[in-house]
Amino acid sequence: MKKIIVANWKMYLSPKNSVEFLGNLPISQSPNLSNIELIICPSFTVLSAMKSRPASLPVHLGAQNCFWKERGAFTGEISPADLRELGCEYVIIGHSERRQYFGETNVMVNQKLLAALAANLTPIFCLGETAAEREADQAQARVVEQLQQGLAGIKLSASQNLIIAYEPIWAIGTGNFCQPEEAAAMHELIKEETWKLLGRENAAVLYGGSVDEKNAAAYLTHPKIDGVLVGGASAKPEIFSQIISQLY
Ligand code: PGA
Repeated sequence: MKKIIVANWKMYLSPKNSVEFLGNLPISQSPNLSNIELIICPSFTVLSAMKSRPASLPVHLGAQNCFWKERGAFTGEISPADLRELGCEYVIIGHSERRQYFGETNVMVNQKLLAALAANLTPIFCLGETAAEREADQAQARVVEQLQQGLAGIKLSASQNLIIAYEPIWAIGTGNFCQPEEAAAMHELIKEETWKLLGRENAAVLYGGSVDEKNAAAYLTHPKIDGVLVGGASAKPEIFSQIISQLY
């Protein structure tokens, strides 16, 4: 199975910088990524421009969020169907920054997951515990709760896929990454629970939180970790190129 690398560019890059970034990646010269599914999630304002990227570039497009309705009077919101029309195949749902700054609850995340799947997008469903929950030995309970509430009522058809990103909140943007073995243990729990909830065992589980060029290989080569979701380091062309090059 290919390893998945997701670049979450958050709000780091302007439209101009985003388009230049793609052109500067070494893969634009040697587009042979047989080991990697590379998914770039730029800001919404860049999706249109990204659609016209060279067809030879082995890059899939994702969005960083979407709304749970396809159409209607929802000022400022983004329809999952529109993301699909703009060439997105993936969408990040339930990122901890959405939960923290925009009040997204597990119920809202569940609605978004359903809407994304209905629009033929593969959700990248983010979850993870806070530092306080980890210290109180509540990390597993928190993750299971997010899974149970987030996946409520979801049944995947044979053609639908789901990616789960385990992103401990204490590790995001802090430089304090989760040790690969600790992440792998959580991945096992996530896979077991997802299998129980969906009746399918093939949801890929990624690790995210302070992944950089020094620690990426430990996750990417770990048999129980299906890939990485990279934030800050993915918005720096040289560093991100080093992360990708660990696998090709
Ligand atoms: P980080 O962010 O790599 O900057 O820690 C990861 C994320 O928020 O998805």
